[in-house]
Amino acid sequence: MAHLGTPAVVMDNGTGYTKLGFAGNDAPSFVFPTVIATAKGSSGGNISRKGTEDLDFYIGDEALAAANGPAYSVNYPIRHGQIENWDHMERFWENSIFKYLRCEPEDHHFLLTEPPLNPPENRENTAEIMFESFNCAGLYIAVQAVLALAASWTSNKVTDRSLTGTVIDSGDGVTHVIPVAEGYVIGSAIKSIPIAGRDITYFIQNMLRDRNEPDTSLKTAEQIKENYCYVCPDIVKEFNRFDNDPDRFQKYMADQGLHRRATVDVGYERFLAPEIFFNPEIASSDFLTPLSEVVDTVVQSSPIDVRRGLYKNIVLSGGSTMFKDFGRRLQRDIRTLADDRLAANQRATGVKSSGVDVKVISHSKQRNAVWYGGSLLSSTPEFKNYCYTKQDYDEMGPGIVRNFSLFSMV
Ligand SMILES: Nc1ncnc2c1ncn2[C@@H]1O[C@H](COP(=O)(O)OP(=O)(O)OP(=O)(O)O)[C@@H](O)[C@H]1O
Ligand SMILES: [Mg+2]
Repeated sequence: MAHLGTPAVVMDNGTGYTKLGFAGNDAPSFVFPTVIATAKGSSGGNISRKGTEDLDFYIGDEALAAANGPAYSVNYPIRHGQIENWDHMERFWENSIFKYLRCEPEDHHFLLTEPPLNPPENRENTAEIMFESFNCAGLYIAVQAVLALAASWTSNKVTDRSLTGTVIDSGDGVTHVIPVAEGYVIGSAIKSIPIAGRDITYFIQNMLRDRNEPDTSLKTAEQIKENYCYVCPDIVKEFNRFDNDPDRFQKYMADQGLHRRATVDVGYERFLAPEIFFNPEIASSDFLTPLSEVVDTVVQSSPIDVRRGLYKNIVLSGGSTMFKDFGRRLQRDIRTLADDRLAANQRATGVKSSGVDVKVISHSKQRNAVWYGGSLLSSTPEFKNYCYTKQDYDEMGPGIVRNFSLFSMV
């Protein structure tokens, strides 16, 4: 029996990174890659139901290190936000709980997250593992976008704690634009964009290769991305600024191990790389629609009575929304689209409109917004009432987790 004082465990397993921690905290206790290394030649399947005996695997950064040797192979159990390999995921959770969080699952309620439009069977599989393998005290599965909306309440620009808004969640593998009305995802209007963190890293890597930089590893490209890139208002002007101000060019010291270092020049990729969100054709991908246009389409395909609420609370979530001035540029571009449409309507109908309020919310918890929203909600006294318990699960079967009641702090 979990007691009242025991904090819930909050786990947000993303395609690229897992965030682990306890309810009520400001930040996750652990953030590491969602990757598992298993010994080559081991059975792979048939994992022990007891939990801790099978130690022949590693997760996170330790998995990446183990995979440098010949004995282990790495696997990414989550693809495009969804769990694809349940055996690997079970072991990943096992290590997350016992080795990282070091807690007894029967003493804790768990809040897990899922991507939009997650098939209901995936919830059942998750519940089966959480209750049958780990015997956890209680379980709530929340939609990531709804948690991201809750996280944005920390912004001083947010005046009411509304669960209506458009969430732009951009992680490593995919970017989702998700309209939410009063806590419910408007599934039919969701759009996803095949441009996210990994694509920006590859774009930088290609630029480094074209210039024959002395280190063109993915790690270097990613470091440059996270530390030097920003979004500019106008790329033509930005090229000029670089050409007139040599200080805009920078140097990055790549650590190549064994005390070797290489100096990499950092140039136009500083603003060009994140520009692929706004002008996808510069990365010559098959996908050509700017992010602002996708957001506008999502709002326009949602029910008319929620559109105002969706424009006025556009919330950013995930690592790839962290570029400086990302929100500012997005707000400007969406506003332009909305204003142009209004002007065209006015010309066609002669009816004057009061205009739309377009607001993009950036805030300090954006990087791990989904986890933070989970931490907020699961730290409320009501949270446990919204969880299913092991007893509920045993009495009614895995099907119960197909529906969770919505709760929020309002
Ligand atoms: N300061 C930063 N600026 C730009 N990108 C960043 C920054 N910090 C992290 N990232 C990028 O964010 C991505 C990881 O984001 P996040 O943890 O939200 O993804 P995820 O939840 O694992 O993936 P997904 O949501 O696609 O399932 C990585 O590509 C990382 O390089
Ligand atoms: Mg994510």
